[in-house]
Amino acid sequence: MPAALRRTSTIGQANLAGVLNHEDLRARARRALPLGLWQFVDGGAEDEITLARNTRAFQELCFQPRMGVWHPAPRLKTRIFGLEVSMPILTAPCGGLRQLHPEGDLGVARAAARAGTVQITSSASGHTLEEIAAIDGPKWFQLYRFWGRQGMESLVGRAQAANYRALVVTIDSPVSGSRERDLRYAFRSTRLSPRRALALAPQLLPRPRWVWRYWRDGMPFGLANTAPIGPGGRPLPLSAMGQSGPESLCASWEEIAWIRDLWHGPLVVKGVLSGEDARRAVASGADGVIVSNHGGRQLDGAPATIDVLPRIVEAIGEESEILLDSGVRRGADVVKAMALGAGAVLVGRPYVWGLAAAGQAGVEHMLGLLRADMVRTLQLIGCAAVEDLDASWLTYA
Ligand code: FNR
Repeated sequence: MPAALRRTSTIGQANLAGVLNHEDLRARARRALPLGLWQFVDGGAEDEITLARNTRAFQELCFQPRMGVWHPAPRLKTRIFGLEVSMPILTAPCGGLRQLHPEGDLGVARAAARAGTVQITSSASGHTLEEIAAIDGPKWFQLYRFWGRQGMESLVGRAQAANYRALVVTIDSPVSGSRERDLRYAFRSTRLSPRRALALAPQLLPRPRWVWRYWRDGMPFGLANTAPIGPGGRPLPLSAMGQSGPESLCASWEEIAWIRDLWHGPLVVKGVLSGEDARRAVASGADGVIVSNHGGRQLDGAPATIDVLPRIVEAIGEESEILLDSGVRRGADVVKAMALGAGAVLVGRPYVWGLAAAGQAGVEHMLGLLRADMVRTLQLIGCAAVEDLDASWLTYA
């Protein structure tokens, strides 16, 4: 194994033998994090209707198995923009990871590389995009609209210089969704000053391990990538993401066409929920889209992505890569998404729970569970390879 993929830290090593699924990891994450951070990770917008719908929509789909065939090693490998990945699961761009565990984005990048897949670095990462790029393995970069065009140009240039392979432009967050569980505990709102620590004492005292690790890591509450473009050369606090200002946090279609000229690799638009927007993305220069409702964290009342996927496949499936996220919890969900035309999926919370529970090892464990789930599901439905999946493997009985 290349040295760069080895764990660099021994903190947080946990016995994961009893963790059989994402809910086990979720329970561990809840026990590891101060309450406010737990709500930040786990919560959705407003009444959490979309959050609930995301997982329910997957559960409501049924397989149409073909019995009497045996595939000892179903093929999970696939290609995304020409790059071979060992399974069709990427780690979604998530901000605030370093606050959950000091291994943060670096631990996720190592885990994704060891799993033979792609890590998507968030604009709101806790380590800089250059630090993350130094880890072996293919990576994509996700772009928010920090400081308008000037800020985006700076981030795109840095991502290009650091050899990120694809650029993901998120379009579903012009303002932050109102995540009331998160807001109620306001954990992200300030740096952890002694006064703030006192106010948060009821949350922090039951989590001495988290406090110790966080303190040793230098209490990183900033958006690391924003330092060179932020006021006075200082990174913005994570809470800046939640403040609505006069400017959108996301690029417009015109700006996406402008980014197309800046960025030389594949361009992907994240947050598409209709055939019409999928066509606009392609018309603006995108090579692919991610069908996403941000894991139910933005517009409450948005449709479940698996429900709208067929419309997007119909609109641009011939010409473009289509990925999907929001609500993927099991390998069976990945198989269902691919049967309906997704080329691959992203997972968000499941790996984030893994990171919070046990650092890099927790992310690896979650990716391993998803892989094993996928293999078993393909064997049970009698399918030899993910490339063979289509709608005939599902039934609506
Ligand atoms: C996110 N997501 C996200 N998306 C994005 O484009 N940029 C970002 O910085 C973040 N940050 C972020 C933080 C946290 C804690 C979570 C849980 C999610 C959304 C993410 O990329 C993805 O769309 C969803 O997480 C997918 O849904 P599931 O898998 O969490 O249900």
